[in-house]
Amino acid sequence: MSLFDKFQGTAELYTSLVSGLGRDPFGLSMEKMLGPTRAIIEGREIVLAGTNNYLGMTFQEDAINAAKEAVEQSGTGTTGSRFANGTYAGHRALEQELAAFLGYKHCIVFSTGYQANLGAISALVSPPDDVILIDADCHACIYDGCQLSGAETIRFRHNDPESLDKRLSRLGDKVKGKLVCFEGMYSMFGDTAPVKEFVEIAHKHGAYALLDEAHSFGVYGENGRGVCEAQGILNEVDFYTGTFSKSLASIGGFVASNHPELEYLRFSSRPYMFTASPSPANVASASAALAKIASDSSMRTKLWENARRIHAAFTQLGFELCAEVSPVIAVKLANKEQAFVAWNFLMENNVYVNLAIPPGTPNATSILRLSVSAAHTPEDLDVVVNAYTALAQSMADGAVKP
Ligand SMILES: Cc1ncc(COP(=O)(O)O)c(C=O)c1O
Repeated sequence: MSLFDKFQGTAELYTSLVSGLGRDPFGLSMEKMLGPTRAIIEGREIVLAGTNNYLGMTFQEDAINAAKEAVEQSGTGTTGSRFANGTYAGHRALEQELAAFLGYKHCIVFSTGYQANLGAISALVSPPDDVILIDADCHACIYDGCQLSGAETIRFRHNDPESLDKRLSRLGDKVKGKLVCFEGMYSMFGDTAPVKEFVEIAHKHGAYALLDEAHSFGVYGENGRGVCEAQGILNEVDFYTGTFSKSLASIGGFVASNHPELEYLRFSSRPYMFTASPSPANVASASAALAKIASDSSMRTKLWENARRIHAAFTQLGFELCAEVSPVIAVKLANKEQAFVAWNFLMENNVYVNLAIPPGTPNATSILRLSVSAAHTPEDLDVVVNAYTALAQSMADGAVKP
């Protein structure tokens, strides 16, 4: 009996699928970045249509200059956690900037979005008194936060207010604290949540609402404040979590709230206290990107234009899409095998998208997840549409079989 026996099944499946393709969809290396939407991979220029670079700001001039300046002034790393020696003026300033942008009174910066969810949930909820209710399709870091808390966790059906209402009603008054967790836009299918209804239901039952806007920050709402802004309830959410790794084009995460007790997390949240803080360069570039989002809506406008173009083109090609227009456009394939071959076909046609298969996907679907960027040029999108047109033809001819 070995520790490694459990990997056998996955390893065999992985090896058989990957060796058939001659390249590994989960181990690709970007040999050289040419900009936000192009890279050299395997010696060829590839259009990147599987990133989370929604606003295309990884090469934004102000952000690059801010990062350079921060390295020169504050060094390459903080060598400590927020709780110890790792809080610099930049971390505090960014907390205030995020709070001001979102209209919340309090904000805490974490080292990643993963740790923001992990740290908020595990510190807020504790067994045996408290219970967490979680949308079934929530991201792994929300699940991991529940696990780290040790509290009872109840799943409700994805994007289903009635399912949440029923589960909260069943709990009655026997539970002390209740936290309901859900996301703004879901990263795999690009569908958005009924956040207004979820918040109303949570509050009706005396529960707190935690909304993760990782993929929707900068993208949804008149000012880019997320799905909660788009649905008119921006500051009614109890805990708003986000990441710097998508629209803010950096690394880090945050939790914002109007509850003054949020500050207690600084001495009770293990993922805040026991890991190094984000580097000065990460903080400075996130701050510059935030200033750009706050002052310039043109990237958001461009992103939505690009998303509408791709969604319409794929609909016309007859692909089964997973959601209405959003910056994530996922094509459903018949099974894992077909998804691997289709993904490879797109790579051969100079387009990189994400291959996503169970158990990482909702409803055990196999998908090609394309994400649109504001930085995609009309020429980039032509390459994408041409590759998908060839793919549709190839599937119709039976060359890419289910
Ligand atoms: C919904 C959601 N929340 C949180 C995270 C974690 O963000 P980070 O990359 O900053 O750890 C992700 C990352 O993909 C995500 O999709």
